[in-house]
Amino acid sequence: MDFRFGDGRDWFFEKRFGLFLHWGIYAIDAWHEQMQYSKQVPRKVYEQLIHKFNPVRFDPDSWLDIAEEAGMEYVCFTTKHIDGFCMFDTKYTDYNIMNTPYGKDILGMLTDACHRRGFPVCLYYNAVNLHHPNYPNQGRTYELPAPEEGDEPDIGRYMDFLRDQVAELCTNYGEIKGFWWDTGDVPGYRDESINEMIRRLQPNAVINNRGFGEGDFGTPERDWDEFVEKDQVFSKPTEACQSIGYESWGYREDEDFYSDRYLSESIDKVLAKGGNYLLNVGPKADGTFPEEACRILRTLGGWYRKVRVSLNDVDTVIGLVSDSNIIITRKENKLFVHLNKFPAAGCVWLNSIDIMPQKAVLLNNGEALEARVELTPSHNNKDKKCLRIRNLPVNDYPNEVMIIELEFEELP
Ligand code: GLC
Repeated sequence: MDFRFGDGRDWFFEKRFGLFLHWGIYAIDAWHEQMQYSKQVPRKVYEQLIHKFNPVRFDPDSWLDIAEEAGMEYVCFTTKHIDGFCMFDTKYTDYNIMNTPYGKDILGMLTDACHRRGFPVCLYYNAVNLHHPNYPNQGRTYELPAPEEGDEPDIGRYMDFLRDQVAELCTNYGEIKGFWWDTGDVPGYRDESINEMIRRLQPNAVINNRGFGEGDFGTPERDWDEFVEKDQVFSKPTEACQSIGYESWGYREDEDFYSDRYLSESIDKVLAKGGNYLLNVGPKADGTFPEEACRILRTLGGWYRKVRVSLNDVDTVIGLVSDSNIIITRKENKLFVHLNKFPAAGCVWLNSIDIMPQKAVLLNNGEALEARVELTPSHNNKDKKCLRIRNLPVNDYPNEVMIIELEFEELP
């Protein structure tokens, strides 16, 4: 599927593997980015975290170094989550990073580094707000059960505040390449003019579908949307998001992490079907990444950089194999066979191909594979020969998806 917007937003189809970052004062408690809501921490208690946030080891370049090692090419950062705390310098609330012991504009530091190093930056902004007096908290998902003393619920005034903040974000940080709304459905408010403002201020920004208007791309999360598995190719621009931590997006002290194999399959599946992939890390309160996150990103990067040729700038091909665990992509006269699920045996049969490739290589190790065109004994297809790749070293790759490159003189 060759998606195009026909304007500066098309960067999104060139750079397809991104780093999602969930970072805020919740990292201090090291439990979950929504702890105020899920643990029902009283507002006054939660808000004391502002006096403790001092990530003295924050160095955006070290984050980008690891992103590069992982093969990631863009960044999406939480400027504000449901707690309402702003990781940027804002005129419209004191509840922001400038009033922490750290006192520096984290978003500014991160965007400077990204601009300097050529990483497109996307901004995550959560529409719910557990801090702002005008936000109409009424016990819906992610909200406080009711307004608190001193609150003046008023969706009109809250939306003015939100609009002002979005304008700040789209004005003060140079070029923004994406706006990543979250929970825009909760306040029950639709207003296309907000995305229109973003488009006016940042015409190259792709906008996701979780805001107050339609947006440019879908955001299937973890493995909750069945179509990611079932569809053979995505019919709309899609960016799947996934945290490396099983429970949380923000830093969690005793997190369980997804396996390398699981993430490798997940990334391969989404990219091969034409989507983008945003993989999340929750940095610690001191500004560093959890060690296990670094290990995972480096390991995935080692695999991804070997196989990316099969995932970028390719088309998804349907109908060449009957095995739904295999995904095929194509670029010109090359086919890439993705053994997306752990293979049952060390062979692949391409039922609709009866010509020999000039080259058959396993991208994971760069080594040649044996190919034959022959009858299969088990398929009852009598005179119909097909392409068999054999002797795959399946047991050598328990933790990563194996991908085969087949180069043909000519492909129909
Ligand atoms: C989930 C989490 C939310 C997080 C989001 C990212 O919906 O609940 O906190 O920001 O995923 O997609």
